[in-house]
Amino acid sequence: MSLLKLDIYHVRNIQKLSIAPSPTINFIFGENASGKSSILESIYILGRAKSFRSASIKSVINVEQQNLIVSAQTVQANGGNLHLGIQLDGKSFEIRINQESKQQRSDLAYALPLQLIHPKSYELLDAGAQTRREFLDWGVFNDDENFLGAWRKFKKALAQRNSLLKTKRLEQLYVWDKELAYYGTIVNGYRQHYLEKFKVVFMGIAEQFLDIGSIELTLLSGWDSSKELPHVLIHDLEKDLRYGFTHSGPHRGDIQLQVDNRLAKDFVSRSQLKLLVLSLKLAQVQLLADEHRDIGCILIDDFSAELDINNRSKLLKFLSAMGCQVFVTATELADFGDLSQVKNYKVFHVEHGNIKQV
Ligand SMILES: Nc1ncnc2c1ncn2[C@@H]1O[C@H](COP(=O)(O)OP(=O)(O)O)[C@@H](O)[C@H]1O
Ligand SMILES: [Mg+2]
Repeated sequence: MSLLKLDIYHVRNIQKLSIAPSPTINFIFGENASGKSSILESIYILGRAKSFRSASIKSVINVEQQNLIVSAQTVQANGGNLHLGIQLDGKSFEIRINQESKQQRSDLAYALPLQLIHPKSYELLDAGAQTRREFLDWGVFNDDENFLGAWRKFKKALAQRNSLLKTKRLEQLYVWDKELAYYGTIVNGYRQHYLEKFKVVFMGIAEQFLDIGSIELTLLSGWDSSKELPHVLIHDLEKDLRYGFTHSGPHRGDIQLQVDNRLAKDFVSRSQLKLLVLSLKLAQVQLLADEHRDIGCILIDDFSAELDINNRSKLLKFLSAMGCQVFVTATELADFGDLSQVKNYKVFHVEHGNIKQV
């Protein structure tokens, strides 16, 4: 999948912007506050129907406007074209795929698999478990389209069970326990299946970026995995009733990265930790490409902020070999390093919310 044409209206300091990106790497440079991140943010909004910088879409919409629109012409893995569009006004959203109106954000997410790498991404391994669950589930979601249905049924059962726990209506609890344990086990199974394949790809990439001890990546299911989830729910009942929520299940799941049998975040250096995160992110895109012949689009904001020149060069080489579409930003063109190793790239200069190909 790659974007052939991208149109942005009313996103932050951008009134109207239109580009025909390269299917390989797009280098976007410009002064601070020129609108570089806003371009990546727009692409992200098109794929996820939300921003990666602001919780509220209202603050993303240009101050003089009521709504924002992002649309793109894409070429999919099967060679077909899709026209994707999203309009947001801060309260509701309207999604269109080939002129057809869609209700689900997931329709866009399947059509435009996006991987984002920005300075905050490097907190993946020391942030809360939620961030890692979202990371893992992005991969599972794109790996097997049945995952989403199971995850939704699980979430519904969890919400019902939690509300019963709060109001202490025990007679209905049994029904939702069964539903929760059933879909919870399925969700965990999808994660497990994905992580086994993912691990192999991740190790291969990590080896290219770091010289480090033995790496171990494990799934924490969210409960004592030596026991079946239905038994754990029964065992936890008293505690769950006391606190009014469900303690065990895939909603508490996590992934754990160890280096030489110690938690990576407490053991390796900051720069090694960053490279491990980078490898995790790249591995998801690589696996998607290997298994589904569909390559997501990678957005890298502030290219030079977190990586030294040597690793930037390694990353460019890697991205170029992978052949996926990339949008990468920096303040100076020179920050991207030697571009001669990249084929068919395009360079864009951003100034006051306007863009020009150079
Ligand atoms: N809702 C908005 N309306 C208009 N301008 C905005 C809005 N939100 C942010 N801006 C401005 O948009 C400019 C571009 O920001 P950004 O994309 O982060 O720039 P860069 O990544 O190039 O440093 C900034 O000057 C910012 O103050
Ligand atoms: Mg920026």
